[in-house]
Amino acid sequence: MEKQTIRDTDVAGKRVLLRVDFNVPMDDKTGSISDDIRIREALPTINYLTERGARVIICSHLGRPKGKVVPSMSLAPIAKRLSQLLGKPVQTTGDCVGPEAEKVARELRNGGVLMLENLRFHAEEEANDAAFSKALAQLADIYVNDAFGAAHRAHASTAGVAQYLPAVAGLLMEKEISILGKALSDPLHPYCVMVGGAKISDKIGVLEKALEKVDSLIIGGGMACTFFKAQGLQVGKSLVEDDRLDFARSLMKKAGEGKVRLLLPADAVVADRFDAEANSRVVDVDKMPAEWMMLDIGPKTLVLFSGELRTCKTVIWNGPMGVFEFPRFRKGTEAIAAVLSDLKATTIIGGGSTAEAVQEMGYADKMTHVSTGGGAALEFMEGKVLPGVAALLDR
Ligand code: 3PG
Repeated sequence: MEKQTIRDTDVAGKRVLLRVDFNVPMDDKTGSISDDIRIREALPTINYLTERGARVIICSHLGRPKGKVVPSMSLAPIAKRLSQLLGKPVQTTGDCVGPEAEKVARELRNGGVLMLENLRFHAEEEANDAAFSKALAQLADIYVNDAFGAAHRAHASTAGVAQYLPAVAGLLMEKEISILGKALSDPLHPYCVMVGGAKISDKIGVLEKALEKVDSLIIGGGMACTFFKAQGLQVGKSLVEDDRLDFARSLMKKAGEGKVRLLLPADAVVADRFDAEANSRVVDVDKMPAEWMMLDIGPKTLVLFSGELRTCKTVIWNGPMGVFEFPRFRKGTEAIAAVLSDLKATTIIGGGSTAEAVQEMGYADKMTHVSTGGGAALEFMEGKVLPGVAALLDR
């Protein structure tokens, strides 16, 4: 990696401002954490720092409180969970800047851990405000960014603060950038990028970038319907982005010219409404009933996609194959996850809902890498420079 990491700096006895992405899904009803993978993935960095006698001041956002104090978005339950995972106390403060935070940060002992309150309770965080960046910097001697998931944001805690403190990457940031970076720039071939999810508009940059390097491009999920409509097929009530039909046509054309195999579903599980209990059946994609919608890929598609995936040495997957949140429409996503988990290849899950699905279905440990970044992983895959990475010191 071209950026300095915590391995390049002496942290003993230093106060380290550690930006993590603990923006974890919370259960609305119970207020408990429904998936703590982002917390667990930050443990190596926290342990590395505390074992070397650093005083670790953790900061993160949670949700989008838009500059207001929203009690349900407090980081207190996250600090509690972190404390359980670390097996040691994690102090908390009522704010992330100001006299109280400064006092607790100053009094932290070597090896101690403090978690500041939600950064986004201040509007200045997202505004990348200079005074707020300075106030954060004032708490520490070194800044470490381990928040890959938030690295696409140019906020005070991800970018601004790096102007006022020596700034290096944490171990998770390093892992994400190295694995994703290598797969994107120098993949072992055959190389396939597989995308899914509802909307093509979220993946345009990824698809265009992928065309430069891939041997095959697999398109599943609801977004396939925009391609079908572009081919003149009837897609019933399926979600289609009419303003992306030209893009779909041009992508199919470019793939053909570049000798990229572009695979679309051959059949679909269609439903009579968007509902977990909807009536459903399997049809070939050229026979979608007028009043129905595609909610998953069908068995012929599974054979087609699996056959392609089994030839690959590198696969990056972003976007589920169907509405996996509804048990009746999760088979496609689950079967594809199972195929990937069995490959003798580099298999990378590009974050967001795909990571959630793979996690929940029990295949995460069998992949080469499951990214903790949603939007960040997508932007990285588009070849964009992430502000949170750019702000770090060069090696
Ligand atoms: C994420 O969950 O993708 C990151 O934490 C960024 O969150 P945001 O989209 O609210 O900036």
